[in-house]
Amino acid sequence: MGRDSHLILLVVLLVSSLAAAAKSADEDVIFGLAKLLSSPPSSWGAGGDVCVFEGITCERGGSGGVTSIDLGDMGLTGTLPTSLSSLTALKELHLQGNALHGDFPSLAGCTDLTRLVLDGNGFTSLPSDFLKDLPSLQYLSLEDLPLKPWSVPDAIVGSSLLETFSASNASIAGAFPAVLANLSSLRSLRLSYNNLTGGLPAGLAELIALESLQLNNQISDGKLSGSIAVVAAMKNLRLLWIQSNKFTGPIPDFSNSQLEAFNVRDNRLTGVVPASLYEIKTLRNVSLTNNLFQGPMPDFRGVNVDLAADTVSRFCQSRPGPCDPLVTTLLSVAAGFGYPAELAETWNGNTPCGNWIGIVCSNGDVSIFDLHNRGLSGTISPAIANLTSVGKLDLSNNHLTGVIPDTLTTMSNLKIFIVSNNSLDGELPKFKPSVKVLANGNQFGKSDSGSQSVSAGALKWKSDAGMIIGILVAVVLLVIIVGLFVHHLRKKNAEKFRPVSSKESADESEMMKIQVVETNWSVNGNTAVPADYSQVSAGSANITHLFESHGMQLPIEVLLKATDNFNEDFILGKGGFGVVFKGNLNGRLVAVKRCDSGTMGTKGQQEFMAEIDVLTKVRHRHLVGLLGYCTHGYERLLVYEYMSDGTLREHLCDLQRSGYTPLTWTQRMTIALDVARGIEYLHGLAQETFIHRDLKPSNILLDQDLRAKVSDFGLVKLANDTDKSMMTRVAGTFGYLAPEYATTGKVTTKVDVYAYGVILMEMITGRKVLDDSLPDDETHLVTIFRRNMLDKEKFRKFVDPTLELGAEAWKSLLEVADLARHCTAREQNQRPDMCHCVNRLSSLLDEWKPTEVDDDDECETSEMHLNQQLEKWRCDDFTISDSDTFSTFNM
Ligand SMILES: *[C@@H]1O[C@H](CO)[C@@H](O)[C@H](O)[C@H]1NC(C)=O
Ligand SMILES: *[C@@H]1O[C@H](CO)[C@@H](O)[C@H](O)[C@H]1NC(C)=O
Ligand SMILES: *[C@@H]1O[C@H](CO)[C@@H](O)[C@H](O)[C@H]1NC(C)=O
Ligand SMILES: *[C@@H]1O[C@H](CO)[C@@H](O)[C@H](O)[C@H]1NC(C)=O
Ligand SMILES: *[C@@H]1O[C@H](CO)[C@@H](O)[C@H](O)[C@H]1NC(C)=O
Ligand SMILES: *[C@@H]1O[C@H](CO)[C@@H](O)[C@H](O)[C@H]1NC(C)=O
Repeated sequence: MGRDSHLILLVVLLVSSLAAAAKSADEDVIFGLAKLLSSPPSSWGAGGDVCVFEGITCERGGSGGVTSIDLGDMGLTGTLPTSLSSLTALKELHLQGNALHGDFPSLAGCTDLTRLVLDGNGFTSLPSDFLKDLPSLQYLSLEDLPLKPWSVPDAIVGSSLLETFSASNASIAGAFPAVLANLSSLRSLRLSYNNLTGGLPAGLAELIALESLQLNNQISDGKLSGSIAVVAAMKNLRLLWIQSNKFTGPIPDFSNSQLEAFNVRDNRLTGVVPASLYEIKTLRNVSLTNNLFQGPMPDFRGVNVDLAADTVSRFCQSRPGPCDPLVTTLLSVAAGFGYPAELAETWNGNTPCGNWIGIVCSNGDVSIFDLHNRGLSGTISPAIANLTSVGKLDLSNNHLTGVIPDTLTTMSNLKIFIVSNNSLDGELPKFKPSVKVLANGNQFGKSDSGSQSVSAGALKWKSDAGMIIGILVAVVLLVIIVGLFVHHLRKKNAEKFRPVSSKESADESEMMKIQVVETNWSVNGNTAVPADYSQVSAGSANITHLFESHGMQLPIEVLLKATDNFNEDFILGKGGFGVVFKGNLNGRLVAVKRCDSGTMGTKGQQEFMAEIDVLTKVRHRHLVGLLGYCTHGYERLLVYEYMSDGTLREHLCDLQRSGYTPLTWTQRMTIALDVARGIEYLHGLAQETFIHRDLKPSNILLDQDLRAKVSDFGLVKLANDTDKSMMTRVAGTFGYLAPEYATTGKVTTKVDVYAYGVILMEMITGRKVLDDSLPDDETHLVTIFRRNMLDKEKFRKFVDPTLELGAEAWKSLLEVADLARHCTAREQNQRPDMCHCVNRLSSLLDEWKPTEVDDDDECETSEMHLNQQLEKWRCDDFTISDSDTFSTFNM
């Protein structure tokens, strides 16, 4: 027994003396620390027991080594001693919110450390063994430190219990630290405001415990990029902040997620916002602004959503609901390609037959689908088979994989199918012999598909020589037949599409929506283009001088200055074609349209100049004038006169938002006449006829006197006056599209007359042309307007309630309503000419007297003729059955 008690005593003595030794060693460290701090806490005496020092905690009630140093927010300055690593009992080190600086020392011996918090100090470097051998670490916070660039060391995998890693604004540079994927206990990861680049490692899918992920605002040029698909695996994620990066691709499937905050603002995310996101019950805060989303507007009921107008305008409707079936199909196809950003730039909204890259329409349906050489990856979606009007389908020279869906063989109008130079495999489906198939440069079957042109049905090679010869003969015959057919088709197409489909039709820019129609249109001539642009920009400081001596072309520097480097505060509007900035050009206010480089595509200088040439030819006081332009690298800038009072749309239906007072009847009439005069000029200018094609209230701009000018010409120039109509790609806005134009693409001046009639109806009723909130048969203003005109009482209730109308004004309103009705006649030959509208309105508008003679009024010459026609138009062409036809295209 004595032996035993001696042994116990010995052990106790040994332990306590060891503890005492540890304590005295730790005391030295704390005294060392006290020396290096320029003003240590006041309770820290020169000698005494460090365990009673403010912020210091020791083991076993003060008899052992230091376990915790908590000196947060004490205004400390100075450096840390290298001896810190000998605090072997240290569990917590809190130094946040001080001004400690210098090198952060090694913690090599602190194997019990669970919490390390260094936020907001001035440390400039971390030791080479940082995070090595810290197996107990659970909480690590290194925010806002001016460190030299560093990367997260692999040694961090040793801290397998780590739950929180916060290191925003801490100079972490380079690729995303893939090693973090090994920390499976991680619940919160915050690496915002670092210098990280590249994609998210696939391994992050292992972080299934993660609840909060913040990677926002990387300061690197490249930012974080690539897909965010990996976050879908993090089933416990509640907060995802990845804003201000360059992530691409769609939002992944978030089914069964418990997300509360989702901020992806300012990225390049594309595709349809999945229902699995907006159906998350726990969701509270969402920001989607400034991405490239497509398809239906997401239905975030009861959620705090940040969706700026430019993001909303990308959706196919301004409220949740399905897209046009054609849009739905095309987006399914884009989904197969992983919604590439290059497509998403133009594939938005609800009208693919406008400027969607790679899409050419005819009769309102897709006739050519050409996305060759666009760097596409992913697969060919079977949805493509739903594009039944497609005659040519070209997906060659991409990186597509997978099989070609068999359903493509059912495409009844398909004539040419090209998928050469991809990585497709499986079997090439058997197309009808009438389809020309080019599919070389892929990995079909096992055989080497080296043949240049493979005709469908001729693929089964046998060693039988006779068979081969037979097949060869057949192939040769087929090639000849197909060749002849294609030649014929080309000729046919050339006639049909002559105006628009050059070989670059797919990336044809719509930036000014100008289509020069005449075949022998000449570029050279009026506009002198300095051969070398840099000569213009070099040196010269005098803007006015430049403006005068170089005609319309302006150096980029001048426009940068005018718009304060495209300052976002100066943005007047955004559209599919770019952004319009307010600018100050040497004292003159101007509107600078910066054409979207995405929609510019590969458009060359020469074509741009051809368009400028057209724009400079149409000058009228009721058309917004082009003052100048600039090309610089990929930049294409157009300078227009500035219109201070916004668009007619803002004055008619957006009053609440715009804050304008409602227009009086006289003001409306004046505007109507201004517009009529501008369009009349376009239609009758000299020997040329131009067609606007996209007349609508948002294209009618007003000056401070509420006088109107027409802008944003989608001009088509008619080849000659004898041929008054032609086929073209439909470009315009639903609701304003004349029936024959929407259905056949046939464009005449009457297309503008129709749109003008719709605008008159909007001015009379103050209603938008399409109102989705009304029942189906009442959504299109033209239909209900015409119907209501049949009943005077109904019609009286139908006119804009903000109009105060005397008897005289009411009479003139009825006349204008009648004019509007004629203008929107279903048959184009029953619509009046624009001169007629001008005449009728000017006779109604007594107050308005021209102060100067419009040098381009040409109505007089044809007035006699017009009056005769007038009688013809007066005959009532309207029957209620018209509404059926209208509803077929007003979706
Ligand atoms: C980053 O940290 C520095 C101090 O190191 C601080 O001055 C700066 O405001 C921080 N930046 C951000 C964006 O938090
Ligand atoms: C992280 O885990 C992966 C796979 O589990 C392994 O290959 C890799 O070596 C680990 N990284 C480190 C730094 O240990
Ligand atoms: C980010 O890292 C790059 C090198 O990867 C470096 O050139 C750049 O200066 C860093 N940026 C900042 C703001 O530290
Ligand atoms: C949501 O946003 C509100 C207001 O912007 C903010 O106070 C709140 O903290 C946010 N909630 C989450 C979970 O981010
Ligand atoms: C094709 O269209 C039909 C009818 O709109 C639709 O049911 C079907 O799912 C579509 N096919 C594909 C592959 O998208
Ligand atoms: C496929 O690639 C080859 C070699 O680069 C090229 O000669 C051929 O024209 C390409 N095919 C098509 C259809 O572009």
